[in-house]
Amino acid sequence: MGEMSAQTFFITTAIDYTNAPPHIGHAYEKVLADVIARWHRERGRSVFFLTGVDQHGQKVQQSAEKAGVAPAEFARDITAKFKALWQKLGIAYDGWAETTDPRHIAAVQDVLQQLHDQGDLYKARHSGHYSVRQEQFLTDKDRNAQGEFGPEWGEVVFIEEENWYFRLSKYRPWLAEHIAAHPDFVFPSFRGNELANAVAKEAGDLCISRPKSRLGWGIELPFDRDFVTYVWFDALMNYATFAGYRATNGGQLPDFQQLWPCDAHVIGKDILIPAHGIYWPIMLKAAGVEVMPRLLVHGWWNLGGAKVSKSAGNVVDPDALADRYGADGLRYYLMRDIATGQDADFNEERLKARYNADLANDLGNLVNRTVSMARRYREGTLAGAPSDQSEDAIALQALAADAAVRFDAAMQNYQVHTALDAVWELIAAANGFVESSAPWKLAKDPALSGRLDEVLVVLVEAARLAAALVHPVMPRAADELLGQLGFAGNLANSWGAVAAGHCVGEAKPVFPRLETDVAA
Ligand code: MSP
Repeated sequence: MGEMSAQTFFITTAIDYTNAPPHIGHAYEKVLADVIARWHRERGRSVFFLTGVDQHGQKVQQSAEKAGVAPAEFARDITAKFKALWQKLGIAYDGWAETTDPRHIAAVQDVLQQLHDQGDLYKARHSGHYSVRQEQFLTDKDRNAQGEFGPEWGEVVFIEEENWYFRLSKYRPWLAEHIAAHPDFVFPSFRGNELANAVAKEAGDLCISRPKSRLGWGIELPFDRDFVTYVWFDALMNYATFAGYRATNGGQLPDFQQLWPCDAHVIGKDILIPAHGIYWPIMLKAAGVEVMPRLLVHGWWNLGGAKVSKSAGNVVDPDALADRYGADGLRYYLMRDIATGQDADFNEERLKARYNADLANDLGNLVNRTVSMARRYREGTLAGAPSDQSEDAIALQALAADAAVRFDAAMQNYQVHTALDAVWELIAAANGFVESSAPWKLAKDPALSGRLDEVLVVLVEAARLAAALVHPVMPRAADELLGQLGFAGNLANSWGAVAAGHCVGEAKPVFPRLETDVAA
């Protein structure tokens, strides 16, 4: 990762289409961004986390038609579903983008007018194959080995029409140079290489309009009222407009100069080329924004090796999964079972197994037994750490310090699963320490009372640190764990919180074991 902007860590995500309700892939992306945002906040950095919904375009218009309602109403209903899910999953965003917002529309039109005035747009007649699903004209390059437009393009129709085009080709050499000069433009780097290859190959300009006769649901071109703006051009601008770009709203939106650029611009691998890797930087450059965002490209959750389709979306409805495993149980699985940048296969049995093994058995049990023993043997009040520590206590403390360092190093590199691995090593070591020190035996021998004091302090320390480290991933559960340990709100990522006289709270299972089979 490169340098961050001066004060505020600006993280944003792809905005989700409101043509269908959210599925597990959408949930993953928001949780990933939220975890990164929370981690930065917890380390004392100021953060602005932007997310939202992509409400215009043909897909939304078509879904609305099918449902027999106006596009605005349809988009509003799906938007409400996304918002409710984000609240349920604890997604703590600071800015919310809706592309039907008049502030966004005004700023997009202002950019379009500028591009028009500076000669970057031109009108031309074009005939060709058009993918309704992808909302774009296709070329022969898009044909498969059989010479056909494959099923990924959905319905393909032949149309001839006049439209407005954006001179992408004029800026292509600049983009190639930018990519070469900024190895951290795209994370992970293999995606940056893919982008560089695509930029070297791809030619042609971008059609940025749709005739109103065909599509009414979009932002009108300010200089030609018979057209609306192509949905991607409109949607991509959200990252700037909701960061205050060209805002005339008297301060309701952030200060763009202060916030820009995005330090981590979270998108899925499917929308890097061409949208975020080519159109978006060129749009910024043409509009006069010189500093480019940094793209964080994640992989996909698949289902049995295949793409999560709309119908499969029901099987992996994140709302229902959060009901079954808790929002934090779901967040944990989504962060633990995928490497950022790679794909993974969603499997509810694994989610359940991880919940039981990692959360109920390992973390939950560590805190539960620690608090219970502190209450049973010391009525909940601890002695401070002894001046002369035992060897095994010193070893556990060293392991904990190492885990905390590795956690932050992995998070800095967006590798949340590796960060969690480090915490689970600490948890395993702490549970091992319970077994080897056997407090229940120490409690029987008054001569070993000092050792029992030490063991309890060490366990509370280790459990508190583990709970504090996992807080960005499982904020609500971690808050409960910390409360039970008597350390509500103490998110310090270091050892040494326990002072003499520290009182623990009550022990209550935070991750009750799931005994029943997963409902089919
Ligand atoms: N509306 C566009 C983005 C416009 S941004 C200016 C869009 N929307 S989407 O709803 O189709 O996808 C939103 C995000 O969810 C994308 O980053 C996409 O990669 C991500 N995911 C959609 N399905 C996914 C999985 N199965 N797994 C992980 N993320 C996936 O694209």
